[in-house]
Amino acid sequence: MSLFSRILTAAAALAIVAPLALTAMPSNAQSDTPAGDFMGYPVTEYMDVSLLEGADIEKGHDVYNRVGICLSCHGWNGDGMGKNPRSEGDAAKLRESLLDTQGFIDIISCGIPGTPMPYHNNQAYKDGDVCYGMTAADFDAADMPRKGKSIRPADIINLVAYLQTHVQGAGETTLAQCQDYYGDSASKVCAGLE
Ligand code: HEC
Repeated sequence: MSLFSRILTAAAALAIVAPLALTAMPSNAQSDTPAGDFMGYPVTEYMDVSLLEGADIEKGHDVYNRVGICLSCHGWNGDGMGKNPRSEGDAAKLRESLLDTQGFIDIISCGIPGTPMPYHNNQAYKDGDVCYGMTAADFDAADMPRKGKSIRPADIINLVAYLQTHVQGAGETTLAQCQDYYGDSASKVCAGLE
């Protein structure tokens, strides 16, 4: 199955499962937690919380910045404007991503072959188990998947939990977010934001 049909299948499966999961919940279950709450953050239509169970969102932010160094391409705020010369100013805008939880997990684990988006699961493309049944032998040189930083599967879940609660659907970057991130150097870096 191609990467994109795999993603579409995951999205379609989620669309069917999510409403069932909600209606199947007994009405008196956890009445202090609103349905659609994930660790204090609203559950969006893109989130499959069963895949994110036990995730550590703060750890996920650290993985984004320091372990995976996603910010080098995707920018500190996920606007795709990172300075990495492999995709300078032209990586995917994660704030606008329409991926579901499984889609994020798959793309972060396996990358997007034929693009600068690297894979981060160090077992990817070794045997066919991890990435769409494919191994490195299935690619010609131009499409060969690029290797990124290794991220443990549990940290990929932490990372996706961070992205889906703080980045996906976050809209335009605000001055407050920029000041919060840059602290003392904010006045220069954040000058263009309102
Ligand atoms: C070397 C640069 C680079 C690095 C490092 C990188 N990415 Fe990417 N990423 C890209 C590019 C470029 C694309 C768009 C590829 C395409 O479709 O043409 C992309 C696409 C994606 C997508 C798909 C978004 C969508 O809506 O389709 C996700 C999710 C993603 N990256 C997450 C990450 C995360 C999380 C990390 C860190 C673990 C990371 N990337 C590291 C360059 C990078």
